[in-house]
Amino acid sequence: MTDKKLDLTPAQVNGQRDEQMAPGLSRRSFFMAAGASGLGAAATMLGGTREAKAQSTDWLQPGNNNRVIGMQEASSFAQGAVGIDFYGHCAFKITSPGGATIMFDPWRDDPSGAWGLWFKQKFPETLVDITMSTHTHFDHDAIDRPQSTMVLDRMVGTFEFADLKITGYADKHACVAPGWYPWTDALAEFGVEACPPNNPGHMDMVTYVVETGGIRTLIWGDNRPDPADGFWDQIGEIDVLTLPVDGSEHILSYEQGNALVDRIKPKVVIPTHYLSETTTYTLSTLQPADDWVKGQKSFKMLDSASLSLEAGDVAGMDREFMYFGHNAQTT
Ligand SMILES: [Fe+2]
Ligand SMILES: [Fe+2]
Repeated sequence: MTDKKLDLTPAQVNGQRDEQMAPGLSRRSFFMAAGASGLGAAATMLGGTREAKAQSTDWLQPGNNNRVIGMQEASSFAQGAVGIDFYGHCAFKITSPGGATIMFDPWRDDPSGAWGLWFKQKFPETLVDITMSTHTHFDHDAIDRPQSTMVLDRMVGTFEFADLKITGYADKHACVAPGWYPWTDALAEFGVEACPPNNPGHMDMVTYVVETGGIRTLIWGDNRPDPADGFWDQIGEIDVLTLPVDGSEHILSYEQGNALVDRIKPKVVIPTHYLSETTTYTLSTLQPADDWVKGQKSFKMLDSASLSLEAGDVAGMDREFMYFGHNAQTT
């Protein structure tokens, strides 16, 4: 850990879109660079710092809000199954029985290049009603890619729409890499404290509980394995738990993941943040989650990227691992 503190003053990239920046540096990735390649290097690439300015390109997206207006005016919604579509890494589309859709954590490559090539293509421009992100790391924050009427980025508190209720709880990112690749040491090397309370904003996290169709799903994101005490009071009973455990133990170790499963006692566990050959390059340093899954007492290797869960069926399950493996939606 150096005693030299980096200047985290916001920088501006002159109103250009990510893909037009040479070599593809965005304002958000600039903050990632504070923990990756260092702000000095990023500032050099930019040719200096300027005033902060928003970079949203959502005004260019096709379509309109007619679907959302329809659901806004509906007085009742269909009963039935909850859809879970896996888009690789930590990206899920959840579809309520009434047809409302949320995309969580769309991914992209780090535009600064500091963390290398992780993904084999751009995140699909899928049509959803709501896009949500748990934190500002590149592998969770491509919120401009889905075509959505609403963007709830790092939302804390409660949101209700149609037959959905979503609660966001602010906590912190895992800050000590448990696996062979000590990526959190890179933050220390550039003078940033990865762990709270003085962590940079990109190590803040929001976990989400989604309630729909009688099923409560916890989107863990990259949260630390030992969240603040208030977290446990807030989340209540969880039916479906997503957890970032892969063979390299990049975010959580097998032991940490197992301890969380034992504490939360969900009906269903869905591994995330692992290497899917469909979406993710070996350069990410991630590994598949097969070994973790096969070490569990009950698991299913799913043969597609889509899952349909009925509350009545889920109620009879106990820590059933459902693993998407290399299946991922690409459109
Ligand atoms: Fe992260
Ligand atoms: Fe991540």
